[in-house]
Amino acid sequence: MGVGIRDNIIDEIKNRCSIVDVIGRHVTLKKTGNSYKGICPFHKEKTPSFVVSDTKQIFTCFGCGATGDVIEFVQRYNNLDFPGAVEKLCEEYGIEIKNANFRKEQDKTALYEINREAAAFFYRAFTKMTNPGYEYMKTRGMESATLRKFGIGYADGEWDSLYRHFIEKEINPQTLLELGLISQSKGKYYDKYRNRVVFPIINTRGKVIGFGGRILGDGEPKYLNSPESPIFLKKNNLYGLNLTRQDINKENYVILVEGYMDVISLYQQGIRNVVASLGTALTENQAAMLKRYTENVILAYDADTAGQTAALRGLDILHKAGCKVKVLHISDGKDPDDFIKKNGKEEFLKLAQNAMPFADYKIYLLRQMLNLDTTEGSVEFLQETARILGELSPVEADIYIKKIARETNISEGAIRLEINGNNNSKITRTSNAAPVWDTGRMGQYNESAIGFGTMLEKNLIKLMLLKSSYVNRIKPYEKVFQSSSAYKIYELILSEYKEDEEIDIKKVEDSLEAEDNRLLRDILENIQLADKEEQVFQDCIQSIEEAGLAKREQEIIQIISMLDDEKDRDKIEALTIEMMKLRKGKTNDR
Ligand code: UTP
Ligand code: MN
Repeated sequence: MGVGIRDNIIDEIKNRCSIVDVIGRHVTLKKTGNSYKGICPFHKEKTPSFVVSDTKQIFTCFGCGATGDVIEFVQRYNNLDFPGAVEKLCEEYGIEIKNANFRKEQDKTALYEINREAAAFFYRAFTKMTNPGYEYMKTRGMESATLRKFGIGYADGEWDSLYRHFIEKEINPQTLLELGLISQSKGKYYDKYRNRVVFPIINTRGKVIGFGGRILGDGEPKYLNSPESPIFLKKNNLYGLNLTRQDINKENYVILVEGYMDVISLYQQGIRNVVASLGTALTENQAAMLKRYTENVILAYDADTAGQTAALRGLDILHKAGCKVKVLHISDGKDPDDFIKKNGKEEFLKLAQNAMPFADYKIYLLRQMLNLDTTEGSVEFLQETARILGELSPVEADIYIKKIARETNISEGAIRLEINGNNNSKITRTSNAAPVWDTGRMGQYNESAIGFGTMLEKNLIKLMLLKSSYVNRIKPYEKVFQSSSAYKIYELILSEYKEDEEIDIKKVEDSLEAEDNRLLRDILENIQLADKEEQVFQDCIQSIEEAGLAKREQEIIQIISMLDDEKDRDKIEALTIEMMKLRKGKTNDR
């Protein structure tokens, strides 16, 4: 079917070619608030009055009045006609032009008009008199105002009332078929939507592009949706966006749900930054559309497995599109609509607040799926986790590595090894970049109960209090201050520290709370360095380093125990060599 190609391409261009990107190639743009500013390429000026809006995907010059969308920019900038600009953008962004015979703009307008008329027809049936559709929506707790806002309609139980309505208006049945408003069987036409509640799908330009029709009560199929048509490309649309985009922009996050009912139900309860992907798998285009309004997306998919699987796929697509994604877990009921009806807006917002970030969620699912008590489970977990973390920035990944190590009995070293093994380019091996003992989990040091310090902590604090010149020498090892009181004292010492001045112990004491002061008193009264400060300092450092080595040794033993003798022979060998070096270092170097 050659028709409609043009609209598809234009939609595709608008979704794929970000106006900021396209204009940014020719004009230096600076971000200011929600938009970008630069020197207008269409008239001479010294101060920038040329504004590009990412959200609206238009440019405007307040100096010369030039304005338009991405295609119009390319037309003007390159002196091209409309098809020329389309061609150029398609070429640059790898969009395929399958058919040069563009459908005429008028045809598209006619299709929109028919859909608008159909929506009005369904709406009248829904609002005029009592009807089963309205009754059904009432039983689902929907208020008239909400229903009106979304233009909800009712398709009656007759076979052909919509068909007859259009025939009276001399509309070609072929066009109605193309839009999926009627079906054809044995040479007869009949309405596609019968005895259903009708949800018009409206794009951000206010055009009715398609419909979803819900059966009243139970039955199959639950929803009937418009087929793809020249004006309805499912991958380019999100349900509700026409009404909610301002709220999404304002709140700077969007709640992405699966269904029609979820959108209107949340909306009714006052959560208006919501859209639905309509049951289909989220597409790159939809992700790109959302990103124009916000990069923060909370996925609130159904609690069932289908919903969770869809969430997982959506997660990747949104992540790839550059969105910051979180997953909201519906803790009561089957979907957002269900939950908010039972628990209200505030509780739903709490769920949103507790939504799990991208990586957390994926790791959480892995932990549910795999048994970490077995070696196989651990190894698989490790491999999968490494893949997930490999997608993150090194700084982010590091946070997760520490967290996972804390929550499982897999060591940080094992996780790092796996990430580096899979993804050499992405993450620099932290065990090289940072001191080996930089783990925060050195068993030896955190055995101390909160409020009490280890001998090591006490000695180091005493050193700094006696001679402030130790402050800078101890700073690189500050991770050893693990017990909370010791850490607080250390922090105060740091803030009191001035070059060439001793620490004012009184001041430190005054700033501490009673329980932390106990440790300070203990240090002042009981730690005696007997004029051997430098010796004590060296001993402390050595024991820190040894603890780090011992810890690494522990890690290596653990990793080796988890590896496969055959498959991972190389890794095992490398680790064994590292361990031998560690052991040798301990005896030789000192
Ligand atoms: P759900 O089954 O979760 O529907 O499908 P829902 O939106 O919660 O509807 P209610 O609450 O049961 O009325 C999620 C979405 O998947 C699409 C629809 O877009 C629906 O909103 N879907 C579902 C279909 O297109 N066809 C179907 O038969 C079922
Ligand atoms: Mn539902």
